[in-house]
Amino acid sequence: MFDRRRFLEVLAALGVSHTAPLRAQADRAVRFESYPFTLGVASGYPTPDGFVLWTRLATKPLEPDGGLAPEPVPMRWEVAEDERFAKVIASRAEFPAHDWAHSVHAEVRGLAPDRWYFYRFLAGDAVSPVGRTRTAPPPTAGSPRLRFAIASCQHFEHGYYNAYKQVVADDLDLVVFLGDYIYESSVRQGYVRRHNQIAEPVALADYRIRHALYKTDADLQSAHRMVPWIATWDDHEVDNDYANDRQEEGRTSPHEFLSRRAAAYQAYYEHMPLPAAMRPRGPDMRIHTGLAWGSLASFHVLDGRQYRSHQACSSAAGRASDVDPGSCVDLRDPSRTLLGKRQEAWLDERFASSRSTWNILAQPLLMAQRDNRPGEGQLFWTDGWDGYPDARRRLLESVVARRLSNPVVIGGDVHMHFVADLKLDFDDEKSPVVASEFTGTSISSNAGPWQRNWKTILAENPHLKYLRGDQRGYVRASVSGGRFIADLVGVETVKLPESGARVLARFAVEDGKPGPQRQ
Ligand SMILES: [Fe+2]
Repeated sequence: MFDRRRFLEVLAALGVSHTAPLRAQADRAVRFESYPFTLGVASGYPTPDGFVLWTRLATKPLEPDGGLAPEPVPMRWEVAEDERFAKVIASRAEFPAHDWAHSVHAEVRGLAPDRWYFYRFLAGDAVSPVGRTRTAPPPTAGSPRLRFAIASCQHFEHGYYNAYKQVVADDLDLVVFLGDYIYESSVRQGYVRRHNQIAEPVALADYRIRHALYKTDADLQSAHRMVPWIATWDDHEVDNDYANDRQEEGRTSPHEFLSRRAAAYQAYYEHMPLPAAMRPRGPDMRIHTGLAWGSLASFHVLDGRQYRSHQACSSAAGRASDVDPGSCVDLRDPSRTLLGKRQEAWLDERFASSRSTWNILAQPLLMAQRDNRPGEGQLFWTDGWDGYPDARRRLLESVVARRLSNPVVIGGDVHMHFVADLKLDFDDEKSPVVASEFTGTSISSNAGPWQRNWKTILAENPHLKYLRGDQRGYVRASVSGGRFIADLVGVETVKLPESGARVLARFAVEDGKPGPQRQ
Protein backbone atom coordinates (compact mmCIF):
# COMPACT_ATOMS: atom_id res chain seq x y z
CA MET A 1 0.00 0.00 0.00
CA PHE A 2 2.92 2.32 0.45
CA ASP A 3 5.83 2.88 -1.93
CA ARG A 4 8.87 3.86 0.10
CA ARG A 5 11.08 4.82 -2.86
CA ARG A 6 8.31 6.99 -4.20
CA PHE A 7 7.90 8.62 -0.82
CA LEU A 8 11.61 9.44 -0.56
CA GLU A 9 11.49 11.00 -4.03
CA VAL A 10 8.59 13.14 -2.96
CA LEU A 11 10.35 14.13 0.25
CA ALA A 12 13.51 15.14 -1.62
CA ALA A 13 11.50 17.11 -4.13
CA LEU A 14 9.55 18.90 -1.41
CA GLY A 15 12.80 20.04 0.11
CA VAL A 16 13.28 22.18 -3.00
CA SER A 17 9.86 23.74 -3.42
CA HIS A 18 6.16 23.32 -2.74
CA THR A 19 4.70 23.39 -6.23
CA ALA A 20 1.34 22.01 -7.20
CA PRO A 21 2.63 19.04 -9.28
CA LEU A 22 4.69 17.88 -6.31
CA ARG A 23 1.65 18.01 -4.07
CA ALA A 24 -0.16 15.89 -6.60
CA GLN A 25 2.68 13.35 -6.43
CA ALA A 26 2.33 13.29 -2.66
CA ASP A 27 -1.38 12.60 -3.03
CA ARG A 28 -0.84 9.67 -5.37
CA ALA A 29 1.92 8.04 -3.35
CA VAL A 30 -0.40 6.18 -1.00
CA ARG A 31 -3.36 3.80 -1.26
CA PHE A 32 -5.46 2.93 1.78
CA GLU A 33 -7.29 -0.35 2.27
CA SER A 34 -10.19 1.58 3.76
CA TYR A 35 -11.14 5.11 4.78
CA PRO A 36 -8.31 6.60 6.87
CA PHE A 37 -10.16 9.53 8.53
CA THR A 38 -12.14 7.36 10.95
CA LEU A 39 -11.19 9.55 13.94
CA GLY A 40 -12.44 12.78 12.42
CA VAL A 41 -10.75 16.16 12.28
CA ALA A 42 -10.20 18.89 14.87
CA SER A 43 -8.82 22.37 15.33
CA GLY A 44 -7.63 24.34 18.29
CA TYR A 45 -5.72 27.21 19.90
CA PRO A 46 -6.91 30.04 17.64
CA THR A 47 -4.61 33.07 17.37
CA PRO A 48 -5.33 36.26 15.40
CA ASP A 49 -3.64 34.79 12.31
CA GLY A 50 -4.17 31.04 12.53
CA PHE A 51 -4.92 27.86 14.46
CA VAL A 52 -3.83 24.25 14.84
CA LEU A 53 -5.35 21.59 12.59
CA TRP A 54 -5.46 17.96 13.73
CA THR A 55 -6.23 14.57 12.35
CA ARG A 56 -4.91 11.06 12.82
CA LEU A 57 -4.83 8.57 9.98
CA ALA A 58 -6.22 5.20 11.05
CA THR A 59 -8.00 2.71 8.84
CA LYS A 60 -8.55 0.40 11.83
CA PRO A 61 -8.68 2.81 14.77
CA LEU A 62 -9.13 0.19 17.48
CA GLU A 63 -5.94 -1.66 16.53
CA PRO A 64 -2.64 -0.57 18.11
CA ASP A 65 -1.12 0.56 14.81
CA GLY A 66 -4.36 2.08 13.52
CA GLY A 67 -4.20 -0.36 10.60
CA LEU A 68 -1.30 1.46 8.94
CA ALA A 69 2.17 0.23 7.95
CA PRO A 70 5.10 1.72 9.91
CA GLU A 71 6.04 4.37 7.35
CA PRO A 72 5.26 8.07 7.18
CA VAL A 73 2.24 8.77 4.99
CA PRO A 74 2.32 11.72 2.58
CA MET A 75 -0.78 13.88 2.78
CA ARG A 76 -1.78 17.54 2.87
CA TRP A 77 -4.27 19.94 4.38
CA GLU A 78 -6.19 22.77 2.81
CA VAL A 79 -7.80 25.86 4.30
CA ALA A 80 -10.51 27.71 2.39
CA GLU A 81 -12.83 30.64 2.92
CA ASP A 82 -15.79 28.63 1.67
CA GLU A 83 -17.17 25.23 2.53
CA ARG A 84 -16.86 23.98 -1.06
CA PHE A 85 -13.16 24.85 -1.25
CA ALA A 86 -13.60 26.99 -4.36
CA LYS A 87 -10.93 29.31 -2.95
CA VAL A 88 -8.15 27.43 -1.15
CA ILE A 89 -6.02 30.05 0.55
CA ALA A 90 -3.49 27.85 2.36
CA SER A 91 -2.22 24.31 1.86
CA ARG A 92 0.80 22.29 2.92
CA ALA A 93 2.18 18.78 2.66
CA GLU A 94 2.54 16.73 5.86
CA PHE A 95 4.19 13.38 6.48
CA PRO A 96 2.63 12.04 9.67
CA ALA A 97 4.96 9.52 11.25
CA HIS A 98 4.26 6.07 12.60
CA ASP A 99 6.09 7.02 15.83
CA TRP A 100 3.31 9.54 16.55
CA ALA A 101 0.46 7.27 15.43
CA HIS A 102 0.22 9.07 12.07
CA SER A 103 -1.20 12.15 13.76
CA VAL A 104 -0.97 15.64 12.25
CA HIS A 105 -0.60 18.86 14.25
CA ALA A 106 -0.44 21.52 11.54
CA GLU A 107 0.01 25.13 12.55
CA VAL A 108 -1.63 27.42 10.04
CA ARG A 109 -0.48 31.06 10.03
CA GLY A 110 -0.97 34.18 7.94
CA LEU A 111 -4.78 34.22 7.95
CA ALA A 112 -7.10 37.15 8.61
CA PRO A 113 -8.17 37.80 12.21
CA ASP A 114 -11.63 37.28 13.67
CA ARG A 115 -13.20 35.13 10.97
CA TRP A 116 -14.30 31.57 10.22
CA TYR A 117 -12.53 29.20 7.83
CA PHE A 118 -13.02 25.68 6.50
CA TYR A 119 -10.37 22.96 6.36
CA ARG A 120 -9.87 19.40 5.20
CA PHE A 121 -7.14 16.78 4.79
CA LEU A 122 -6.29 14.79 1.67
CA ALA A 123 -4.32 11.55 1.65
CA GLY A 124 -4.15 9.28 -1.39
CA ASP A 125 -7.64 9.40 -2.85
CA ALA A 126 -9.25 9.91 0.54
CA VAL A 127 -10.69 13.26 1.64
CA SER A 128 -11.50 14.01 5.27
CA PRO A 129 -14.76 15.52 6.50
CA VAL A 130 -14.72 19.31 6.20
CA GLY A 131 -13.95 21.06 9.46
CA ARG A 132 -14.89 24.57 10.49
CA THR A 133 -12.74 26.80 12.63
CA ARG A 134 -11.89 30.41 13.29
CA THR A 135 -9.13 32.87 14.10
CA ALA A 136 -9.14 35.02 17.22
CA PRO A 137 -9.72 38.79 17.10
CA PRO A 138 -6.60 40.98 16.76
CA PRO A 139 -4.90 42.00 20.05
CA THR A 140 -6.20 45.55 20.04
CA ALA A 141 -9.77 44.67 19.12
CA GLY A 142 -12.29 45.14 21.88
CA SER A 143 -14.17 42.21 20.36
CA PRO A 144 -17.88 42.58 21.03
CA ARG A 145 -18.27 39.07 22.40
CA LEU A 146 -16.89 35.61 22.99
CA ARG A 147 -19.04 32.53 23.47
CA PHE A 148 -17.62 29.24 24.65
CA ALA A 149 -18.49 25.93 26.28
CA ILE A 150 -16.91 24.77 29.52
CA ALA A 151 -16.78 20.97 29.22
CA SER A 152 -15.15 18.12 31.14
CA CYS A 153 -15.43 14.50 32.26
CA GLN A 154 -16.70 12.22 29.52
CA HIS A 155 -16.65 8.64 30.78
CA PHE A 156 -17.56 6.63 27.69
CA GLU A 157 -19.20 3.87 29.71
CA HIS A 158 -21.41 6.21 31.73
CA GLY A 159 -23.29 7.50 28.74
CA TYR A 160 -23.67 9.21 25.39
CA TYR A 161 -22.23 12.62 24.60
CA ASN A 162 -25.60 14.29 23.99
CA ALA A 163 -24.24 17.51 25.50
CA TYR A 164 -22.11 17.98 22.39
CA LYS A 165 -25.21 18.02 20.17
CA GLN A 166 -26.28 21.16 22.04
CA VAL A 167 -22.72 22.58 22.01
CA VAL A 168 -22.72 22.33 18.20
CA ALA A 169 -26.23 23.84 17.99
CA ASP A 170 -25.05 26.73 20.21
CA ASP A 171 -22.69 27.90 17.43
CA LEU A 172 -19.87 28.87 19.82
CA ASP A 173 -16.41 30.35 19.27
CA LEU A 174 -14.58 27.80 21.43
CA VAL A 175 -14.86 24.64 23.46
CA VAL A 176 -12.71 24.78 26.58
CA PHE A 177 -12.17 21.23 27.81
CA LEU A 178 -11.01 20.93 31.42
CA GLY A 179 -9.99 17.34 31.95
CA ASP A 180 -11.01 13.68 32.00
CA TYR A 181 -11.14 13.47 28.22
CA ILE A 182 -10.74 9.70 28.54
CA TYR A 183 -11.09 7.47 31.58
CA GLU A 184 -8.47 4.86 32.25
CA SER A 185 -10.79 2.84 34.50
CA SER A 186 -13.82 0.81 33.44
CA VAL A 187 -16.95 0.42 35.51
CA ARG A 188 -18.15 -2.93 36.85
CA GLN A 189 -21.86 -2.25 36.52
CA GLY A 190 -24.35 0.35 35.44
CA TYR A 191 -22.64 1.06 32.15
CA VAL A 192 -24.47 2.37 29.11
CA ARG A 193 -21.77 1.28 26.66
CA ARG A 194 -18.51 -0.54 27.13
CA HIS A 195 -14.80 0.17 26.77
CA ASN A 196 -13.48 -2.30 24.19
CA GLN A 197 -10.59 -3.11 26.55
CA ILE A 198 -11.59 -3.35 30.18
CA ALA A 199 -8.10 -3.41 31.70
CA GLU A 200 -6.55 -0.04 32.60
CA PRO A 201 -4.18 1.19 29.91
CA VAL A 202 -0.51 1.21 30.90
CA ALA A 203 1.48 1.05 27.65
CA LEU A 204 1.33 3.48 24.73
CA ALA A 205 -0.65 1.02 22.56
CA ASP A 206 -3.31 0.72 25.30
CA TYR A 207 -3.75 4.48 25.66
CA ARG A 208 -3.93 4.89 21.87
CA ILE A 209 -6.76 2.37 21.69
CA ARG A 210 -8.63 4.10 24.55
CA HIS A 211 -8.33 7.53 22.88
CA ALA A 212 -9.32 6.09 19.51
CA LEU A 213 -12.44 4.49 21.03
CA TYR A 214 -13.54 7.83 22.49
CA LYS A 215 -12.80 9.59 19.21
CA THR A 216 -15.09 7.18 17.31
CA ASP A 217 -18.06 8.85 19.04
CA ALA A 218 -19.98 10.83 16.40
CA ASP A 219 -21.04 13.65 18.74
CA LEU A 220 -17.51 14.17 20.02
CA GLN A 221 -16.21 14.18 16.44
CA SER A 222 -18.81 16.70 15.46
CA ALA A 223 -17.93 19.06 18.35
CA HIS A 224 -14.28 18.91 17.27
CA ARG A 225 -15.14 19.38 13.58
CA MET A 226 -17.37 22.41 14.11
CA VAL A 227 -15.61 24.38 16.88
CA PRO A 228 -11.95 25.02 17.80
CA TRP A 229 -10.91 23.66 21.20
CA ILE A 230 -8.43 24.50 23.90
CA ALA A 231 -7.79 21.92 26.60
CA THR A 232 -6.10 20.91 29.74
CA TRP A 233 -6.13 17.52 31.42
CA ASP A 234 -6.96 16.16 34.85
CA ASP A 235 -6.12 12.76 36.32
CA HIS A 236 -8.05 10.18 34.29
CA GLU A 237 -6.06 10.85 31.12
CA VAL A 238 -3.34 8.92 33.01
CA ASP A 239 -4.54 7.41 36.31
CA ASN A 240 -7.18 8.34 38.91
CA ASP A 241 -5.87 10.86 41.47
CA TYR A 242 -2.28 10.67 40.30
CA ALA A 243 0.06 13.36 41.58
CA ASN A 244 3.23 14.19 39.67
CA ASP A 245 5.30 10.98 39.75
CA ARG A 246 2.99 9.09 42.08
CA GLN A 247 0.17 6.82 40.96
CA GLU A 248 -3.21 6.52 42.67
CA GLU A 249 -2.23 3.97 45.27
CA GLY A 250 1.45 4.76 45.44
CA ARG A 251 2.41 1.13 44.87
CA THR A 252 4.52 1.47 41.74
CA SER A 253 7.89 3.20 41.88
CA PRO A 254 8.09 6.77 40.55
CA HIS A 255 10.27 5.42 37.73
CA GLU A 256 7.62 2.90 36.68
CA PHE A 257 4.82 5.42 36.97
CA LEU A 258 6.66 8.04 34.90
CA SER A 259 6.97 5.58 32.03
CA ARG A 260 3.19 5.06 32.21
CA ARG A 261 2.71 8.84 32.34
CA ALA A 262 4.93 9.21 29.25
CA ALA A 263 2.74 6.73 27.35
CA ALA A 264 -0.45 8.48 28.46
CA TYR A 265 0.83 11.96 27.60
CA GLN A 266 2.02 10.85 24.18
CA ALA A 267 -1.33 9.26 23.31
CA TYR A 268 -3.11 12.40 24.57
CA TYR A 269 -0.94 14.59 22.35
CA GLU A 270 -1.48 12.29 19.38
CA HIS A 271 -5.26 12.62 19.68
CA MET A 272 -5.76 16.31 20.45
CA PRO A 273 -5.48 19.50 18.33
CA LEU A 274 -2.51 20.77 20.34
CA PRO A 275 0.30 23.03 19.07
CA ALA A 276 3.45 21.13 18.05
CA ALA A 277 5.31 22.97 20.83
CA MET A 278 3.35 20.86 23.34
CA ARG A 279 4.73 17.60 21.97
CA PRO A 280 5.89 15.58 25.00
CA ARG A 281 9.46 14.62 25.77
CA GLY A 282 9.34 11.40 27.72
CA PRO A 283 7.12 11.96 30.79
CA ASP A 284 7.21 15.76 30.41
CA MET A 285 4.65 17.72 28.45
CA ARG A 286 3.99 21.40 28.87
CA ILE A 287 0.28 21.94 28.39
CA HIS A 288 -0.18 25.14 30.42
CA THR A 289 -0.44 28.11 28.12
CA GLY A 290 -2.16 31.40 27.43
CA LEU A 291 -4.61 32.50 24.80
CA ALA A 292 -6.01 35.96 24.08
CA TRP A 293 -9.36 36.99 22.62
CA GLY A 294 -8.66 40.55 21.50
CA SER A 295 -8.55 42.79 24.54
CA LEU A 296 -11.81 41.26 25.75
CA ALA A 297 -10.46 38.12 27.43
CA SER A 298 -7.35 36.15 28.27
CA PHE A 299 -7.39 32.45 29.02
CA HIS A 300 -4.79 31.20 31.48
CA VAL A 301 -4.81 27.45 30.89
CA LEU A 302 -3.36 25.55 33.85
CA ASP A 303 -1.97 22.06 34.51
CA GLY A 304 -3.00 20.78 37.94
CA ARG A 305 -1.43 17.30 37.79
CA GLN A 306 2.08 17.17 36.41
CA TYR A 307 3.92 19.33 38.92
CA ARG A 308 1.83 18.98 42.10
CA SER A 309 3.02 17.88 45.54
CA HIS A 310 1.74 14.47 46.59
CA GLN A 311 -1.64 14.53 48.35
CA ALA A 312 -1.48 15.27 52.07
CA CYS A 313 -2.27 12.59 54.65
CA SER A 314 -3.13 9.80 52.21
CA SER A 315 -5.11 6.80 53.46
CA ALA A 316 -3.40 3.58 54.52
CA ALA A 317 -3.87 2.32 50.96
CA GLY A 318 -2.00 5.41 49.71
CA ARG A 319 -5.11 7.07 48.31
CA ALA A 320 -6.28 10.67 48.45
CA SER A 321 -9.07 10.93 51.01
CA ASP A 322 -11.30 13.17 53.08
CA VAL A 323 -9.26 14.58 55.96
CA ASP A 324 -9.90 16.66 59.04
CA PRO A 325 -7.58 19.67 58.67
CA GLY A 326 -7.06 19.66 62.44
CA SER A 327 -5.41 16.26 62.32
CA CYS A 328 -3.44 16.66 59.09
CA VAL A 329 -0.43 18.90 59.72
CA ASP A 330 0.88 18.23 56.21
CA LEU A 331 -2.12 20.04 54.70
CA ARG A 332 -0.75 23.37 55.93
CA ASP A 333 2.85 22.86 54.81
CA PRO A 334 3.42 26.10 52.84
CA SER A 335 5.95 24.43 50.54
CA ARG A 336 3.22 22.24 49.04
CA THR A 337 2.07 23.25 45.58
CA LEU A 338 -0.65 22.28 43.12
CA LEU A 339 0.72 23.98 40.01
CA GLY A 340 4.43 23.62 40.78
CA LYS A 341 6.59 26.60 41.68
CA ARG A 342 7.52 27.40 38.06
CA GLN A 343 3.93 27.39 36.81
CA GLU A 344 2.93 29.52 39.82
CA ALA A 345 5.60 32.10 38.90
CA TRP A 346 4.59 31.98 35.22
CA LEU A 347 0.96 32.61 36.18
CA ASP A 348 1.86 35.50 38.48
CA GLU A 349 3.78 37.06 35.56
CA ARG A 350 0.78 36.64 33.28
CA PHE A 351 -1.46 38.29 35.88
CA ALA A 352 1.01 41.18 36.13
CA SER A 353 1.06 41.78 32.37
CA SER A 354 -2.58 41.07 31.47
CA ARG A 355 -4.50 44.01 30.00
CA SER A 356 -7.62 41.99 29.23
CA THR A 357 -11.04 42.97 30.54
CA TRP A 358 -11.79 39.35 31.59
CA ASN A 359 -9.22 36.88 32.87
CA ILE A 360 -10.37 33.29 32.65
CA LEU A 361 -8.44 30.70 34.64
CA ALA A 362 -9.08 27.42 32.83
CA GLN A 363 -8.09 24.61 35.17
CA PRO A 364 -9.36 21.12 35.99
CA LEU A 365 -10.67 21.34 39.58
CA LEU A 366 -13.16 23.03 41.89
CA MET A 367 -11.23 25.90 43.48
CA ALA A 368 -13.74 26.95 46.17
CA GLN A 369 -13.41 25.40 49.60
CA ARG A 370 -15.91 22.61 50.15
CA ASP A 371 -16.29 21.48 53.74
CA ASN A 372 -17.90 18.04 53.56
CA ARG A 373 -18.66 17.72 57.29
CA PRO A 374 -22.01 19.07 58.49
CA GLY A 375 -21.88 21.21 61.65
CA GLU A 376 -18.79 21.39 63.86
CA GLY A 377 -15.40 20.64 62.38
CA GLN A 378 -14.32 20.35 58.75
CA LEU A 379 -13.56 17.63 56.26
CA PHE A 380 -11.65 18.28 53.04
CA TRP A 381 -11.05 16.15 49.95
CA THR A 382 -7.28 16.12 49.52
CA ASP A 383 -7.08 15.58 45.76
CA GLY A 384 -8.69 18.95 44.93
CA TRP A 385 -7.66 22.52 45.79
CA ASP A 386 -8.84 21.84 49.36
CA GLY A 387 -5.80 19.58 49.67
CA TYR A 388 -3.53 22.52 48.75
CA PRO A 389 -4.96 25.45 50.74
CA ASP A 390 -1.75 27.51 50.89
CA ALA A 391 -1.21 27.14 47.15
CA ARG A 392 -4.80 28.28 46.55
CA ARG A 393 -4.29 31.26 48.80
CA ARG A 394 -1.04 32.18 47.00
CA LEU A 395 -2.87 32.11 43.67
CA LEU A 396 -5.75 34.28 44.90
CA GLU A 397 -3.33 36.68 46.62
CA SER A 398 -1.55 37.05 43.29
CA VAL A 399 -4.94 37.88 41.67
CA VAL A 400 -5.40 40.64 44.26
CA ALA A 401 -1.81 41.93 44.28
CA ARG A 402 -1.71 42.19 40.46
CA ARG A 403 -5.13 43.86 40.40
CA LEU A 404 -6.21 41.27 37.85
CA SER A 405 -9.25 42.51 35.96
CA ASN A 406 -12.39 40.38 36.36
CA PRO A 407 -10.93 36.99 37.30
CA VAL A 408 -13.22 34.04 36.52
CA VAL A 409 -12.11 30.52 37.44
CA ILE A 410 -13.59 27.69 35.38
CA GLY A 411 -13.18 24.02 36.28
CA GLY A 412 -14.37 20.44 36.18
CA ASP A 413 -13.66 17.25 38.13
CA VAL A 414 -16.64 17.36 40.49
CA HIS A 415 -19.31 16.22 37.97
CA MET A 416 -21.73 18.85 39.27
CA HIS A 417 -22.51 22.44 38.45
CA PHE A 418 -20.90 24.60 41.15
CA VAL A 419 -21.16 28.38 41.21
CA ALA A 420 -19.02 30.05 43.84
CA ASP A 421 -17.50 33.18 45.30
CA LEU A 422 -13.74 32.79 45.71
CA LYS A 423 -12.23 34.36 48.84
CA LEU A 424 -8.83 34.64 50.46
CA ASP A 425 -10.34 33.17 53.63
CA PHE A 426 -13.38 30.97 53.09
CA ASP A 427 -13.88 30.57 56.85
CA ASP A 428 -14.38 34.30 57.31
CA GLU A 429 -17.73 35.52 56.01
CA LYS A 430 -16.33 39.06 55.94
CA SER A 431 -13.40 38.11 53.73
CA PRO A 432 -14.01 39.92 50.41
CA VAL A 433 -14.94 38.08 47.21
CA VAL A 434 -11.91 38.26 44.90
CA ALA A 435 -12.98 36.05 41.98
CA SER A 436 -15.93 34.12 40.53
CA GLU A 437 -16.08 30.40 39.81
CA PHE A 438 -18.06 28.03 37.58
CA THR A 439 -17.63 24.28 37.15
CA GLY A 440 -19.26 22.57 34.20
CA THR A 441 -20.81 19.37 35.67
CA SER A 442 -19.80 16.51 33.30
CA ILE A 443 -20.44 15.60 29.69
CA SER A 444 -21.33 12.01 30.65
CA SER A 445 -19.60 10.93 33.88
CA ASN A 446 -21.86 10.01 36.79
CA ALA A 447 -22.45 12.57 39.53
CA GLY A 448 -19.90 12.55 42.32
CA PRO A 449 -20.60 11.28 45.84
CA TRP A 450 -21.50 14.81 46.96
CA GLN A 451 -24.65 14.86 44.86
CA ARG A 452 -26.55 13.04 47.62
CA ASN A 453 -25.95 15.70 50.29
CA TRP A 454 -25.89 18.81 48.15
CA LYS A 455 -28.25 20.67 50.46
CA THR A 456 -25.96 20.08 53.44
CA ILE A 457 -22.92 21.19 51.46
CA LEU A 458 -24.67 24.38 50.34
CA ALA A 459 -25.66 25.17 53.93
CA GLU A 460 -22.18 24.39 55.22
CA ASN A 461 -20.35 26.53 52.65
CA PRO A 462 -22.00 29.97 52.33
CA HIS A 463 -19.63 31.04 49.52
CA LEU A 464 -21.23 28.37 47.29
CA LYS A 465 -24.09 29.96 45.35
CA TYR A 466 -25.42 26.96 43.47
CA LEU A 467 -24.84 23.24 43.36
CA ARG A 468 -26.56 20.72 41.17
CA GLY A 469 -25.43 17.34 39.93
CA ASP A 470 -28.46 15.37 38.80
CA GLN A 471 -27.94 16.23 35.14
CA ARG A 472 -24.96 15.92 32.85
CA GLY A 473 -24.08 18.89 30.67
CA TYR A 474 -21.77 21.88 30.43
CA VAL A 475 -21.64 25.64 30.99
CA ARG A 476 -22.25 28.00 28.10
CA ALA A 477 -20.42 31.27 28.69
CA SER A 478 -21.14 34.52 26.85
CA VAL A 479 -18.66 37.31 27.46
CA SER A 480 -19.01 40.95 26.49
CA GLY A 481 -17.28 44.04 27.81
CA GLY A 482 -19.83 44.51 30.57
CA ARG A 483 -20.84 40.98 31.62
CA PHE A 484 -19.83 37.37 31.85
CA ILE A 485 -23.00 35.27 31.54
CA ALA A 486 -22.95 31.58 32.43
CA ASP A 487 -25.82 29.34 31.40
CA LEU A 488 -25.69 26.04 33.28
CA VAL A 489 -26.88 23.54 30.70
CA GLY A 490 -28.24 20.09 31.57
CA VAL A 491 -29.14 17.24 29.20
CA GLU A 492 -32.21 15.14 29.97
CA THR A 493 -30.39 11.84 29.71
CA VAL A 494 -27.09 10.27 28.67
CA LYS A 495 -28.53 6.74 28.81
CA LEU A 496 -30.00 7.11 25.32
CA PRO A 497 -28.18 8.38 22.23
CA GLU A 498 -30.68 11.22 21.73
CA SER A 499 -31.73 13.78 24.30
CA GLY A 500 -32.84 17.36 24.69
CA ALA A 501 -30.98 19.93 26.74
CA ARG A 502 -32.08 22.98 28.70
CA VAL A 503 -30.68 25.83 30.76
CA LEU A 504 -31.01 24.94 34.46
CA ALA A 505 -29.88 28.31 35.77
CA ARG A 506 -28.24 31.52 34.60
CA PHE A 507 -25.64 33.50 36.51
CA ALA A 508 -23.87 36.72 35.57
CA VAL A 509 -20.71 38.47 36.70
CA GLU A 510 -20.74 42.23 36.16
CA ASP A 511 -17.59 44.03 35.03
CA GLY A 512 -15.72 45.22 38.13
CA LYS A 513 -17.89 43.24 40.59
CA PRO A 514 -16.50 39.80 41.51
CA GLY A 515 -19.08 37.19 42.48
CA PRO A 516 -21.70 35.48 40.28
CA GLN A 517 -25.30 36.73 40.64
CA ARG A 518 -28.32 34.55 39.88
CA GLN A 519 -30.40 36.00 37.01
FE1 LIG B 1 -14.08 13.29 36.00
